[in-house]
Amino acid sequence: MQTKIAGIGHYLPNRIIKNQDLTSYMDTTHEWIVERTGIEERRYAEKHKETSATMGTAAAKIAIERAGISPEDIDFIIFATLSPDYYFPGCGVLLQRELGITKTEIGALDIRNQCSGFVYGLSIADQFIKSGMYKNILLVGAEMHSMGLDFSDEGRAVTVIFGDGAGAVVLQPTEEKDKGILITCLHSDGTHAEELAMISPGSHGGYHLGTEKFGFPDPDIPGGVFVTKKMMDENMLAPNMTGQLVFKTAVVKFPEVIREALTKVGLTSDDIDLFVPHQANLRISQFVQRVMKLPDEKVVNNIQKYGNTTAASIPIALSEAWEQGRVQDGDLICLAAFGSGFTWGSALIRW
Ligand SMILES: CC(C)(COP(=O)(O)OP(=O)(O)OC[C@H]1O[C@@H](n2cnc3c(N)ncnc32)[C@H](O)[C@@H]1OP(=O)(O)O)[C@@H](O)C(=O)NCCC(=O)NCCS
Repeated sequence: MQTKIAGIGHYLPNRIIKNQDLTSYMDTTHEWIVERTGIEERRYAEKHKETSATMGTAAAKIAIERAGISPEDIDFIIFATLSPDYYFPGCGVLLQRELGITKTEIGALDIRNQCSGFVYGLSIADQFIKSGMYKNILLVGAEMHSMGLDFSDEGRAVTVIFGDGAGAVVLQPTEEKDKGILITCLHSDGTHAEELAMISPGSHGGYHLGTEKFGFPDPDIPGGVFVTKKMMDENMLAPNMTGQLVFKTAVVKFPEVIREALTKVGLTSDDIDLFVPHQANLRISQFVQRVMKLPDEKVVNNIQKYGNTTAASIPIALSEAWEQGRVQDGDLICLAAFGSGFTWGSALIRW
């Protein structure tokens, strides 16, 4: 028994934010952003109306329809996001409600693996399908970054990179030989957890795991709150990234984890028909493409239009490529991601 992608879809909000638009809020230029990241524009969802769950729902509806099933057929939901609607509960149950799934013989799991969330979700779904536990798994990656960014000069290195959007797939069992997910490889290394992170709000309550880098002492009460006025005053509720470390680590881990997957199934990079990298930074993807010796027509890049949409980036890119006819029956598709944690992973899929 293997796991196949039976339906795929994506949703992008209408509002286009060009690099030039960001120059109204922060000291940056179109040229700087394009040179370092390749990004020309990104989408922002409609503030106070759309959320990660609503965008995920829109993508999921398309994937479900293309799989030829109805929402009630879904027996498990996996939702990957770092920008959930609520601190808790997770977006999985919100998606269930938005889809009108009223049956309770269904599980909903939220995963927080940031940029590699989709690959991790795919691996989890693959194990559930192979074990025979579920037959129609809905895997969604969705992000509404625009509500969690720092639009001042201080946040510019992070803010210019990220955009909003959602992608979804329906996963089903198949007995067709050599079809579906051939392998997934997952990795993590917590050494640099804080180098690409949003530290607050959190149960550290202001202390930062002893380093006090982001923290402050508040010893007079037995408990505390996840969000304090001081965190707001000191602009601590924004993502933090040591860009060069992320870049240098990503360009090593991407090729490593792709080669690991290929070796484990006895294939080489020449066998790849389409490479869909997590859209972290066009310069990272171009570097990986060169190292893997892949021609342009075998690589999907859409970060120029959408920025980095974290857990949503791979399903959006794969869905767009599928719509453009770039994914054909029998093709070997290679997915790879690297991001916060650090966590990274790859997947090989025979379409
Ligand atoms: C973020 C990133 C684009 C920054 O590029 P960089 O070459 O490393 O730039 P640095 O952080 O060294 O900053 C260089 C200068 O540009 C400035 N700068 C940062 N952001 C800027 C912006 N948006 N506009 C203009 N200048 C900016 C810095 O302040 C710094 O100025 P200084 O030299 O006067 O101090 C790059 O490190 C990167 O892409 N890293 C990987 C990020 C990534 O992929 N994240 C997602 C992972 S899933």
